[in-house]
Amino acid sequence: MNFQLTEEHLMIQKAARDFAQQELLPGVIERDEKQKFPVEQVKKLAELGFMGMMVSQDYGGSGLDTVSYVTAMEEISKIDASASVCMSVNNSLVCWGLETFATEEQKQKYLVPLAKGMKDGELHIGAFCLSEPEAGSDATSQRTTAIDNGDHYILNGTKNWITNGSTASIYLVIAQTDVAKGSRGINAFIVEKAWKGVSVGAKENKLGIRGSDTHSIMFQDVVVPKQNRIGDDGFGFKFAMQTLAGGRIGIASQALGIASGAYELALAYSKQRKAFGKEISQHQAIQFKLADMATEIEAARLLILKAAWEKDQHLDYTLSGSIAKVFASEVAMKTTVEAVQIHGGYGYVKEYHVERLMRDAKITQIYEGTSEVQRIVISRSILK
Ligand code: CAA
Repeated sequence: MNFQLTEEHLMIQKAARDFAQQELLPGVIERDEKQKFPVEQVKKLAELGFMGMMVSQDYGGSGLDTVSYVTAMEEISKIDASASVCMSVNNSLVCWGLETFATEEQKQKYLVPLAKGMKDGELHIGAFCLSEPEAGSDATSQRTTAIDNGDHYILNGTKNWITNGSTASIYLVIAQTDVAKGSRGINAFIVEKAWKGVSVGAKENKLGIRGSDTHSIMFQDVVVPKQNRIGDDGFGFKFAMQTLAGGRIGIASQALGIASGAYELALAYSKQRKAFGKEISQHQAIQFKLADMATEIEAARLLILKAAWEKDQHLDYTLSGSIAKVFASEVAMKTTVEAVQIHGGYGYVKEYHVERLMRDAKITQIYEGTSEVQRIVISRSILK
């Protein structure tokens, strides 16, 4: 067993850290306040190969492993979780789903530009459309329908809370094709935003990750060619579950980044701020908080690296990914609350960043499967 990152992992970590400091930190408070998507910064992430990190070089990606990906996700998330969720969805859900399950023709047409994150000089990313007004955790209850109509399907329905909703050019859409078949009557489709009948709803005004563009997406009588279905008929639910299992490792690393970003700020502040005649880091009340933060962050990081390693070894990572996500997201919430507390009144104002990190942390307990869903996945696995 080796707990050390390789030279290559350390290089990627440094590249992501430098990028976050130089490109994401300036303006992150303003983007949060104004709900502004970091389009120029995400373009630069694409140019650096961060939008298709795990995709093989044959398909336009960087050909890196999952450990590299989670290491980069942590660094980006320390500074800007709105940028990292965009990166996470394109990498873990869209590109991974296509590379693993799409046909060669679909890969050439869709995966290659999505892995590059750029097409014709413009940002070119994807979104994963599963959630609906009445189907978030209960993912089999899809109301969006795709009716078989010969050589194409007719897609109708509304998807909610779609990350990259307005920026994405390509949507992976999960829809019901045969209600009677339950989870086996669901399919996944590659849908182009430019197609007739696709429209983007209003931007959600969110508590956190306010720089990410979250929208509802409407599909009205959209003609989807049969060659845009992913996998065999009825594969859509398994496609979604397997893709989300990997996505959860990415969100766990986002949660870890939010936690470690808040911890680093709290640690630095505690060494600089004085109260009762000494730095507050010299008070045991603060030391115990810092010790708990460091312990829990380390535990979360190890769980994430284990899940990432299992994925790289082609082992089953569904359980380890859910364990990592439920733990890391709870650590993110707890750590950011404590970071605000350590900062006292300063923690409650925007300039010190920790209040944003606290707001950003909450979503990691909700998306790509709530903490309750992770516990369903974990308990099913240990009880079977
Ligand atoms: N891999 C492969 N197959 C899987 C699987 C997995 N990880 N999980 C389930 N399946 C298969 C089952 O084996 C079963 O197959 P058979 O019919 O052949 O037996 C089938 O799928 C149905 O499975 P279940 O009966 O277990 O399904 P369920 O309805 O009980 O659901 C659940 C289980 C775990 C709660 C699931 O619905 C779930 O994960 N829900 C949460 C969905 C989610 O994460 N939503 C987030 C939206 S995406 C998002 O947030 C993206 C973003 O923008 C950031």
